[in-house]
Amino acid sequence: HKNGLNPSKIKADVKDIVNIITPEQIGDLTNLFQLYHSGMNEFGTKLENLDAEFHTRLDYNPIHHMESRMKDVTSLYNKMNKKDISFTTDAIKKNIFDLAGIRVVTNYIDDIEAIESSLLKQDDVTLIRRKDYVNNPKESGYRSLHLILTVPVFQSDGPYEIPVEIQIRTVGMDMWASLEHKLKYKTNSNPELVKQYSNDLIGYAEELTQIEQNMQIIHKNIR
Ligand code: GTP
Ligand code: MG
Repeated sequence: HKNGLNPSKIKADVKDIVNIITPEQIGDLTNLFQLYHSGMNEFGTKLENLDAEFHTRLDYNPIHHMESRMKDVTSLYNKMNKKDISFTTDAIKKNIFDLAGIRVVTNYIDDIEAIESSLLKQDDVTLIRRKDYVNNPKESGYRSLHLILTVPVFQSDGPYEIPVEIQIRTVGMDMWASLEHKLKYKTNSNPELVKQYSNDLIGYAEELTQIEQNMQIIHKNIR
């Protein structure tokens, strides 16, 4: 998960995209990105360690794979504009909780809760926001557990509490979300067909839930 941050790219992007910005502001923003990137690494390590513990104790890995990403400057800028917030480090800290994000893809449905509770038990982790689209799917059929958690990042001048968005979902939920996302952002296709497919996908989300529940039972019984 430790894909490095490229500070010169962030500086260049900020210069290109945001109009009125001083060298000092560019420096502050780059530091902020670095800080959030470190927060993402802290959670990446926590999650890898938890998976390793499950593997050692139970000969079983709850995590299928993980993806971490920093929001790029363009989408950050667009999000701030949409919310009508000025592009400052203070405003980002107050309003943006998905600058750093980790998607945890689990093997089974119960793993979602297992990962969540293992993280929440840790003394240095604080829950800021929780959206449970697993038990309350979106109208689209989207399922996933979204958490905003903070972790202290120790810089040379002390600790900073950094929020990271952690999305936890099963392989089935992830497969569904990837296809539905592609469908949503295909602007050049026939709207009638998109409507039909969206409708089909609502049904498939339910079928996938059934299948994943049934497969989990088999997995439990043979362990
Ligand atoms: P923003 O992050 O500002 O958009 O609002 P929010 O935090 O209220 O959003 P939410 O918790 O609904 O979800 C944010 C992320 O979840 C999105 O960036 C997507 O990755 C994912 N997501 C949410 N709803 C859907 C959906 O219907 N389909 C798919 N494929 N992904 C979704
Ligand atoms: Mg969000």
